[in-house]
Amino acid sequence: MPVITNVDDLKRIYQRRVPRMFYDYCESGSWTEQTFRENTSDFDQIRLRQRVALDMTGRSTAGQMIGQDVAMPVALAPVGLTGMQHADGEIKAARAAESFGVPFTLSTMSICSIEDVAENTSKPFWMQVYTLKDDDFMQRLFDRAKDAKCSAAVITVDLQLLGQRHKDLKNGLSAPPKLTVKSIADMMTKVQWGLGMLGTKRRFFGNIVGHAKGVKDPSSLGTWTAEAFDQALDWDRIRQFRKMWDGPLIIKGILDAEDAKQALNVGADAIIVSNHGGRQLDGALSAIKSLPAIMDAVGDKIEVHLDSGIRSGQDVLKALSMGAKGTYIGRAYIYGLGAMGEAGVTKSLELIQKELETTMGLCGVTSVDTLSRDNLLVPQGFEGNWQD
Ligand SMILES: Cc1cc2nc3c(=O)[nH]c(=O)nc-3n(C[C@H](O)[C@H](O)[C@H](O)COP(=O)(O)O)c2cc1C
Repeated sequence: MPVITNVDDLKRIYQRRVPRMFYDYCESGSWTEQTFRENTSDFDQIRLRQRVALDMTGRSTAGQMIGQDVAMPVALAPVGLTGMQHADGEIKAARAAESFGVPFTLSTMSICSIEDVAENTSKPFWMQVYTLKDDDFMQRLFDRAKDAKCSAAVITVDLQLLGQRHKDLKNGLSAPPKLTVKSIADMMTKVQWGLGMLGTKRRFFGNIVGHAKGVKDPSSLGTWTAEAFDQALDWDRIRQFRKMWDGPLIIKGILDAEDAKQALNVGADAIIVSNHGGRQLDGALSAIKSLPAIMDAVGDKIEVHLDSGIRSGQDVLKALSMGAKGTYIGRAYIYGLGAMGEAGVTKSLELIQKELETTMGLCGVTSVDTLSRDNLLVPQGFEGNWQD
C-alpha cells in the first residue's frame, strides 16, 4: 500500500479501482469545465499570512454548523450515485462521518435509501432534497427524512435542469451500469469493485424507485431529471417546501448576493455558496470568488457555508477566513470512498483535519472561530472587476 499523504493520492487509487464511467461522472464539470477548474485554482490565488511566536498549543478544529457540534466545520456534501463508487457507498460514508464527528448529507439521488442509511448508522444525518414537480413525492421525501430523524434538510436550488457533462453522455452513465462491450471490459479490470457490487442488493436509486410515480427509466439520470425536475421552481415554491419541513433548513447552490437575500427571506437557517462543483453553469464564478459579495449582503443575518473546489485543509481554512461558518467536501471524500471504502473516507477527513490544524498553528490561530481575513493575503480585485 502506497503512503497516502494527501487527497490527490486517494484520487489516483480511486481512478485505478472504480469503473471509468463512475470516475468520469465524479471528476468532470459541465461543458468546457472552466468553472470546475477555477473552483480549485481560485483557492490557490489566496495566500496565507504566516505568524510566529504566538502560542499555538491547544489548537482545536472543533466548531458548529447550524448549531450542531462538529469535529471540524467540514460536512460531507450530497453526492448522487455514491453507492456506485463503492458498494453501499452512502452507508460507508455516513458511518465514517459519524465516527469522525462531521455531518453526512444524503443525496436524493443516492443508491442507499434514507431508511437504509438510518438503519445502518446511529447519529442523525442531513437529507438533501431536489425540487421536483410531484408534490406528493416532495411531501413524502420530507416525511421520510423526518421519520429517519434527519437533523437538517438541504434544498438544492441550482439543478432545475442538468448541466451537460460530455463524458457522461459518451459513457452512457447509468445506475446500475448498462452492460456493453466497453463497460464489461472496463469492469473486468476493477475486481474489488465488482465483488463489492455482486455482494450488495443496493444498485438502484433507493429514494426514487418505488417512491416516485411514472418514472419510466430510473437508471438514466439524464432522462429522469428532464422528466421530473421542476423548471418552474421559484421562491414561492421554496416557501412551500419550508412549510413541509419544520426542522433546520439549508439552501444549497447560491452564487449571487440577490439570491442569498431571497434565501434569507424564505426562512432558511443557512445557505451554501456553491456552483455544484462546477457541474451546472459552466462559466459561472468560482464559489470562493462569489463568497465576499454574499458575505457583504447577508453574512451578518444568516449562516453562510461554502463548497466547490475544496481539496485540502488549507482550502477549508481559506473559506472560513473569508467568512464561511462551515464547508463541505464532495469529490475529496468520494476519492477516499472509491479508493478504500469507509476507511478511505475516514482517511480523507483525517488528511483535511491535519492540514487544517497544522495551517492554523503556522498562522498563529488556535480556534476555527477566530479565523478572519487577517489570516489571509487576498489579491486586489480577487472577486473580479465585472461591469454592472
Ligand atoms: C459526482 C457528484 C455528484 C453530485 N450529486 C449531487 C446531488 O445529488 N445533490 C446535490 O445537491 N449536489 C450534488 N453534487 C454537488 C456536491 O454536493 C457539491 O456541491 C460539490 O461536489 C462540491 O464541489 P467539490 O466536489 O469540488 O467539493 C454532486 C457532486 C459530484 C462531484
